[in-house]
Amino acid sequence: MKKSIGPDKVKTAVFISGTGSNLKNLIKFSSKKNSPISINLVISNNKNAKGLKYAKQQKIEKKTFNFIKQKESEKKIIRLLTKKKITFICLAGFMKILSNNFLKKFNGKAVNIHPSLLPKYKGLDTHKRVLKNNEKFSGCTVHYVTTKLDSGKIILQKKIKISKADKENTLRKKILREEHKLYPRAIKKIFN
Ligand code: GRF
Repeated sequence: MKKSIGPDKVKTAVFISGTGSNLKNLIKFSSKKNSPISINLVISNNKNAKGLKYAKQQKIEKKTFNFIKQKESEKKIIRLLTKKKITFICLAGFMKILSNNFLKKFNGKAVNIHPSLLPKYKGLDTHKRVLKNNEKFSGCTVHYVTTKLDSGKIILQKKIKISKADKENTLRKKILREEHKLYPRAIKKIFN
């Protein structure tokens, strides 16, 4: 795979905490000619996040900040982002809520993906709660990041039908597949 760095693309950092399937997908997307972004940095709050291994394979700079003292971690991240001239942030399974102080430096330039039809089902255990409530539909949403969990302005949303046979796991997989299509589309929408 080509290195996802191009001179004219918007320099982007992806923040992760875990598996990183969205990270992987965004890296693939960023290597395409029609992608407005390049992925220049991966940030994690968890040194064991699987996604970090993929970043390494792809020779993309990665860094872990433990967020024990959130203010300090955020200060260091801002310094690094500034140094690397990064102007766009994609959260992809990042499990921390960024502070107002951090976000005001990236006002309108940080986005997140969430596996529900926001504003419904913010927060954790989304699929479990959706199934428990016998919802007929679920989906995923890309939205701007604010200090309120999963609450910023919606950029794009994809709705899917829940089948009777769906369990937490099958629903998660179905929606992840949609996330991988929706996130690139939302990024194109922002920059094109
Ligand atoms: C995704 O479902 C995303 O919407 C949510 O966390 C999950 C991360 O999955 N915020 P992955 O690490 O990208 O595979």
